[in-house]
Amino acid sequence: MLSLKSVDLKKAKIESLVIPVCEDKNIHDDNIISSLVDTAKKVKAFKGEKEDDIVLYHLSDVKAESIIFLGLGKFEKLDAESLRAMAGKAVKNVIKKKYTEVLIAVPAAAKMNIRLKIVLEAMMEGALLGNHLYDRYKKEKKHRSLRRIDFLVNADEAKTYKKLASRISTVCRGTILAREWVSMPPNDKRPEFFAKSIESHARKENLNVTVFNEKALKQKKFGAMLAVAAGSLSKPRLVILEHKPAKPKKTIAFVGKGVTFDSGGINLKTTASLSEMKMDMAGAAAVAATLITAARLHLKHNIVGIIPIVENMPSGNATRPGDIIQSYGGKTVEIGNTDAEGRLILIDALSYAIKNYRPQTVIDLATLTGACIVALGEKIAGAFSFDDDLAENIILSGVNTHERCWRMPLPEDYKDLIKSDFADLNNVPATRAGGAITAALFLSEFVKDTSWAHIDIAGPAYAKKESAYCGVGGTGFGVRLLCDLLERL
Ligand code: BES
Ligand code: ZN
Ligand code: ZN
Repeated sequence: MLSLKSVDLKKAKIESLVIPVCEDKNIHDDNIISSLVDTAKKVKAFKGEKEDDIVLYHLSDVKAESIIFLGLGKFEKLDAESLRAMAGKAVKNVIKKKYTEVLIAVPAAAKMNIRLKIVLEAMMEGALLGNHLYDRYKKEKKHRSLRRIDFLVNADEAKTYKKLASRISTVCRGTILAREWVSMPPNDKRPEFFAKSIESHARKENLNVTVFNEKALKQKKFGAMLAVAAGSLSKPRLVILEHKPAKPKKTIAFVGKGVTFDSGGINLKTTASLSEMKMDMAGAAAVAATLITAARLHLKHNIVGIIPIVENMPSGNATRPGDIIQSYGGKTVEIGNTDAEGRLILIDALSYAIKNYRPQTVIDLATLTGACIVALGEKIAGAFSFDDDLAENIILSGVNTHERCWRMPLPEDYKDLIKSDFADLNNVPATRAGGAITAALFLSEFVKDTSWAHIDIAGPAYAKKESAYCGVGGTGFGVRLLCDLLERL
């Protein structure tokens, strides 16, 4: 449904054509498009400024029924993200007009300071992601996704970049799968069900799937994970996905926090936005969707996804503050606060990944701390690693995909903060200060000498407001990032 097209605008029958316009430079090569832009700019209300738009119908010279001009603002400010956002807005604009397909004009490579491949990738991503809206629980669906999204390029370009459309479609399909899981209400994704949903998607792509139920977890001594699950009527699951190509280059393990609902446990949360805590499995969703995408793309690495899934609830069986548990890795942990549950399920999963797979690289994704949101806001993830190369690659992938990551420190002396009087470690420090860092340091106690990174996605995993190419709910953050990263490792 996504393709690059070279068409004669004078002859081709088109429902809706979208033309991006810069306010201070003509970014198109094609004479017809350039003269259409001139016509649009004659309308007083349209200058091509950011957020400007205008629709003109049945213009002579072209057969398109409607032409939508979208302002990009100043040429100097133009980057891949503004094109991604423009394409997302283009699709939403066309959907509102009840059209079923769109042709979007791609700016000329020679006139841009951005490589054509980057331009095309960004525009395709924005369009595909903007075409999705989570309305599964609405009886009356107002949003009709477009059937076709085409990009207007010249014949040579269409040939050169033919394969790009399929790769981008696959990665965006993965992002949308993660979004849907994150947005799903917590009563429909309790651990047993979420695990089954991951399993059924993964099996279709021929991934190896193993699921440990509560009995297996007890037998194998996943003490930290079981402690978090203890308060819930829903039993925990550990899902293991393996992508095993014939001649793998490396083994890479991803670990994703899968708390299907985080009430805080006995340290019950007091904030108003408790309903958003259905998103506390966004790391798990991103890891599962990345594995599924890696299989669809036939990537060359051995990739393992380790996904601990629990519900964090208060009850008579719940773990108490003061309890001491033994983790899978052997270390004992005093539970200082039952709301710091993510790090508990992650340490068991990290230890399991390292012990059983000996990966070259292990990366965990988790909606781990409110403190990371305080530090970096709602759109930027915190990236922690002792390995400078790995950290740099994560930051670069973040720039490429606009799933932004900012490197955070792991100061050795802060480790004193997570000491316990009675056990090897306490799951919370006595101070709230530096909460994202102390959480990451807690995880670091379980990775031995494996090259490891932790990405705290508490902010960017969930959108409270609609934006250019993402509706309210799960953002799918992490899937595009990890797919890009896999090409660098
Ligand atoms: N799931 C939360 C973190 C979170 C907060 C994610 C807001 C998304 C939005 C995590 O389990 C948690 O509750 N962390 C506590 C840790 C504290 C008790 C040390 C926090 O951040 O307050
Ligand atoms: Zn919590
Ligand atoms: Zn949590």
